[in-house]
Amino acid sequence: MNTNTPESPGGAQAPAPLSDATRAALAPAGQAPHSPGATHIRSFVHRRGHITQGQREALEQLLGKWSIPYADRRLDLAAAFGRAAPTVLEIGFGMGETTQQIAQARPGDNFLGVEVFNAGVGAMLRRIEDNGLENVRIIQHDAVEVVRDMIAPGSLAGVHVYFPDPWPKKRHHKRRLIQPPFVALLASRIAPGGYLHCATDWQEYAAQMLEVLSAEPLLRNTVADYAPRPDYRPQTKFETRGLRLGHGVWDLIFKRIV
Ligand SMILES: C[S@@+](CC[C@H](N)C(=O)[O-])C[C@H]1O[C@@H](n2cnc3c(N)ncnc32)[C@H](O)[C@@H]1O
Repeated sequence: MNTNTPESPGGAQAPAPLSDATRAALAPAGQAPHSPGATHIRSFVHRRGHITQGQREALEQLLGKWSIPYADRRLDLAAAFGRAAPTVLEIGFGMGETTQQIAQARPGDNFLGVEVFNAGVGAMLRRIEDNGLENVRIIQHDAVEVVRDMIAPGSLAGVHVYFPDPWPKKRHHKRRLIQPPFVALLASRIAPGGYLHCATDWQEYAAQMLEVLSAEPLLRNTVADYAPRPDYRPQTKFETRGLRLGHGVWDLIFKRIV
């Protein structure tokens, strides 16, 4: 959402008031260390995409209730969710149908969804409100900065990265999310024993994921190479599209070992 940051992707929205819980989650946190080279190549581009009236209204009315603004300081996860529970970060939830299904199937876990796309955030807000998804919160901001600045080391039970933009052209590969520096950062935020679950329908990106995740010293593959799709992951919207185009699907599930 980022009602208060100039770099908010996806166009302007009216600032919504922050809930008390959001204020509590942000206020006591210590300053996150500034990373020196703060600029990085974004894994997304700002596009003025279509947004429905319902999604726009959800953004206007529900952002302050269910989302947390990006801030350059550590987030107190227990305060943000109103309870201490294992917290799973999802990067790029799209329209949120998968997030909703997983959150409903796993009520004991908290789900922090990070997305930059206005229509998707509006749709997810609507899902949270209409289905009483008390265990979901949203941050509308670049996930790289959220992970770097807001997530404390060793604090996540898991991370879901489902069908990240494949950036198929070679000159765009630098925009891919799953690359060694970001994977090292992500791994540092996962608690020992926690997991990183990626999925893609792009074979050559799957091979890159396997290489990068296997090379990260904090992570170990749970299987040899690619994992079968676990029961908790429903078929996502992008996956359905990929399957329709005749693509395969590759899941990778790694655990943090120390
Ligand atoms: C290809 S879509 C997949 C959506 C959904 N996971 C699915 O499988 O249907 C990738 C999503 O990631 C989001 N995204 C890309 N880079 C991001 C970033 N750095 N931070 C947050 N979201 C990002 C995009 O806006 C897009 O909605």
